[in-house]
Amino acid sequence: MNLWDMFRLDGRRALVTGGSRGLGRAMAQAFAEAGADLILVGRDADNLKRAHEELSSLGRDVRTIAFDLDSGASAEQLCDLLLREHPPIDILVNNVGGRRENLATEDMPLETWQRLIDLNLTGAFVCTKRLGGAMRTRGWGRIINIASICGQIATRNIGGRHYETAKVALVGFTRAVAADWAPFGVTVNAIAPGGFLTDANRRWFSERPSFQKEVEALIPMGRLGEPEEIGPLAVYLAGEGSRYMTGALLTIDGGYTLW
Ligand SMILES: NC(=O)c1ccc[n+]([C@@H]2O[C@H](COP(=O)([O-])OP(=O)(O)OC[C@H]3O[C@@H](n4cnc5c(N)ncnc54)[C@H](OP(=O)(O)O)[C@@H]3O)[C@@H](O)[C@H]2O)c1
Repeated sequence: MNLWDMFRLDGRRALVTGGSRGLGRAMAQAFAEAGADLILVGRDADNLKRAHEELSSLGRDVRTIAFDLDSGASAEQLCDLLLREHPPIDILVNNVGGRRENLATEDMPLETWQRLIDLNLTGAFVCTKRLGGAMRTRGWGRIINIASICGQIATRNIGGRHYETAKVALVGFTRAVAADWAPFGVTVNAIAPGGFLTDANRRWFSERPSFQKEVEALIPMGRLGEPEEIGPLAVYLAGEGSRYMTGALLTIDGGYTLW
């Protein structure tokens, strides 16, 4: 296989949770450009429709499923649907997640903590178990968990430590399952993005305009990432070129964690 073929994803089907906007949308586009068919999951039907129109124009089979992945139970329902009604999934990107709440630990209601841990961690566990379990049976698969540099450091000037907690746990889960499934042709890796300019961050920055400058001052490259900059890394992890890599955490943060 020549070098460039190792980055091709022709004949593969990728499921991207949260694939309609932000980093998920950017990874979906990169997969489609590399030849993969797509299944995109998100809550809002209009966002999915837009992504469907844009990505179908690349000539791939793109399916969308409007679904709220806010709990382990809903993730189970989604997996039931996918395993029953859709073709095999070769590449799973567990991307849904986010901080969502800026709350000090001393003020964090237990229910909120549990809900956001489920959003960031339990859904990834369920999709890995069910869809990754099917990959294990077939003998080939790629699982990419979208963690965060908050799995390595605590973000300054914002609360909601469910986020750091869940992302550390997602990295631990990645490493352990990677070891378990290494003999079965399924690699399990994680990406740790730093600050990227997506809707989630635009919301924080609009609530407190000085926050964007504060974050940029912490990044050696002096700027946030553009979503399209995560695409090539995801394609690498999804293809043959990364076949000897499993359990890795790949940081892409403009140098944020160097200081
Ligand atoms: N952006 C960053 O700087 C950054 C940094 C580190 C890590 N990350 C991680 O990267 C991932 C994506 O972040 P992002 O900034 O791209 O987020 P985003 O801009 O908010 O996009 C999130 C995507 O997920 C979907 N989504 C959100 N909640 C959902 C739910 N309950 N069920 C199903 N789909 C849902 C959204 O569509 P709908 O709203 O229509 O559902 C959208 O497609 C997250 O895990 C986040 O923690 C992001």
